[in-house]
Amino acid sequence: MKILHVVGARPNFMKVAPIIEAFTDYQRSGNGPVDVSQLLVHTGQHYDRAMSELFFEELGMPRPDINLSIGSGPHGQQTGRIMEEFEKVLLQQRPDLVLVVGDVNSTMACAIDAKKLGIPVAHVEAGLRSGDMSMPEEINRKVTDAISDLLFTTDRIADQALLREGVPAERIHFVGNVMIDSLLKHRAKALARPTLVDLGLARPGEPAPRYAVLTLHRPGNVDDPEVLREIGAAISEIARHMPVVFPIHPRSRGRLESFGLAQLFSEANGVRLTEPLGYLDFVNLTANSALILTDSGGIQEESTILGIPCLTLRPNTERPITIEQGTNRLVGNRRADILRAFAEIQSAPNTAGATPEYWDGKAAGRIVRKVVDWYARTSAQEQPRMKIAL
Ligand code: UD1
Repeated sequence: MKILHVVGARPNFMKVAPIIEAFTDYQRSGNGPVDVSQLLVHTGQHYDRAMSELFFEELGMPRPDINLSIGSGPHGQQTGRIMEEFEKVLLQQRPDLVLVVGDVNSTMACAIDAKKLGIPVAHVEAGLRSGDMSMPEEINRKVTDAISDLLFTTDRIADQALLREGVPAERIHFVGNVMIDSLLKHRAKALARPTLVDLGLARPGEPAPRYAVLTLHRPGNVDDPEVLREIGAAISEIARHMPVVFPIHPRSRGRLESFGLAQLFSEANGVRLTEPLGYLDFVNLTANSALILTDSGGIQEESTILGIPCLTLRPNTERPITIEQGTNRLVGNRRADILRAFAEIQSAPNTAGATPEYWDGKAAGRIVRKVVDWYARTSAQEQPRMKIAL
């Protein structure tokens, strides 16, 4: 079985790394019913060293076999260019399965290409729904799930969402959270790094002060100057109580500068801007923090496992389990709401989250077993073939 893995953007790397490793372990063990070979394609949606290459090094991932170097662009253009180039790879490589993760444009573009060539698609992190169709990620999630053959979910809420949308139950497999596989694997190494000293938050040998970590990049938050001003006003207020460290996404840096709002998120206001951090430094920074403020999806999940209170600066989340069981709380993006939640956290931090089922570091192994069983079963019947030949 030839599996082709797709990565494109920063949040994909820590999801695919444990899956590649688990398939490599399976193949090395030599006991499986199916011979597996793997190919890694990077679409190049993210391309800066700090957004891409560094993650391969830190996560111990193999270099991509093929890099499409697509880069940035408006959604239609970026998605279209990925589809155009990835189709050529499929026709040349003829994999038996394309495995995509998450909800970025690369996820959807590559799933559509594969499906139209009759190549089965596996989607890891299926069934997450914010119910907010103004998010590009929600569109990517729904399209990808609608056409995938194997849907791997992180929790049972996602299973239910897929069933409601009419996905046949036999395609849905609850396996747990591969992002947490990476977090648990690399946490000790991350904590051993001198991140806080390097960032000037602590002196060598001394404990760090209480600080908050901020991440912000959703179009809904950073593309509208009024919204960004509201968030900035809340952050300046929080920064009077504790330093706020803000590893800034290139998209957000561009918006702050073009809207003339850079001053709001500056050292003068108690905000420490840093370049985007690598995986290990970011885990260290968040694990040692008193509070996380974010609009990211994955960080809501990581905060649940790290037991750090998390205020999600969005009106909705596709990851409600992090609220039901974890330390996450939805606060939206209005100044007053953010500050009210901050005051509550200051008096009673919610650090006692539970660990969701199967967020145990073994999700990738479950995926491997499901994929191998699926392949053994379908090839015993009739292996789906590519409909379109060159
Ligand atoms: C993408 C994903 C989002 C994910 C996020 C994580 C989609 C629709 N969105 O959003 O789900 O949470 O990645 O980072 O796929 N840029 C650089 N260097 C890079 C990458 C991007 O400077 O390496 C700049 C681009 O020029 C552009 C902006 O960042 O101005 C946006 O990049 P893009 O990949 O289109 O979307 P993200 O906002 O990063």
